[in-house]
Amino acid sequence: MSPRTARPRHYLMCRPAHFTVDYSINPWMDPAKPTDNGAALAQWEQLHALFLRLGHTVELIDPLPGLPDMVFAANGATVVDDKVLVARFRYQERVAEAPAFAAWFRQNGYREVRQTTHSNEGEGDLLVVGERILAGSGFRTDRRAHAEAAEFLDREVVTLELTDPRYYHLDTALAVLSDTEIMYYPGAFTPDSRAVLERLYPDSIQATAADAQVFGLNAVSDGERVILPEAAVHLAERLRARGFTPIGVNLTELLRAGGSVKCCTLELRH
Ligand code: ARG
Repeated sequence: MSPRTARPRHYLMCRPAHFTVDYSINPWMDPAKPTDNGAALAQWEQLHALFLRLGHTVELIDPLPGLPDMVFAANGATVVDDKVLVARFRYQERVAEAPAFAAWFRQNGYREVRQTTHSNEGEGDLLVVGERILAGSGFRTDRRAHAEAAEFLDREVVTLELTDPRYYHLDTALAVLSDTEIMYYPGAFTPDSRAVLERLYPDSIQATAADAQVFGLNAVSDGERVILPEAAVHLAERLRARGFTPIGVNLTELLRAGGSVKCCTLELRH
């Protein structure tokens, strides 16, 4: 097994100060079930502390009242070579997050900040794998935004079609492990998209339905350490066998909104 090497990363996160589930835009969200804001904050703090302990740099964007999903910072933009493609949210409930992210990037010295014309939900659906971007569609991000991303970010963009409403964002069904490796749950994709993934990444880890169900694929890797929900025990085994170091975290409170590790973590690529 080749030794893995971690690359220090730069992330943007948003403390879940206003987190709650008071609307439903995915099958995980049930406004009738009460959430515990204190628990959400404590779990998120653990993830934040873990990133710092691993040597990564984490920036914070101020959470805004009335935007309970803003904790899922990964959806705010996609950043490649300091170019920022700002999200255009599909549902009205999240639309106001986009200008907040755009403002953060402008205030922090990013000069190329552009919003797509068509819906795109940032790294929820646009996942950077080395020189390529894998782009989800079917629930949130419009295929036409894939073309906009390819043009603005100057990367090859491969469209993947999602079919299962529980896995409405690409990052709930597929995780980037290194510049050349991914893991994914085949059941979330159309047969055509499965064939594309098999062709591009023949040696991938294929997750089970049980791993996907606990959001095991909503993971963040630095090339060596893979942070994922602790309930994804089978996936952790598979990662270990490939020479990665899986680190399980507990983000069950945020899962009530249909998000976990990756959703909370937007990568800033320079
Ligand atoms: N409640 C949020 C939504 O449905 C969760 C977003 C999760 N984020 C992600 N990157 N998958 O939009």
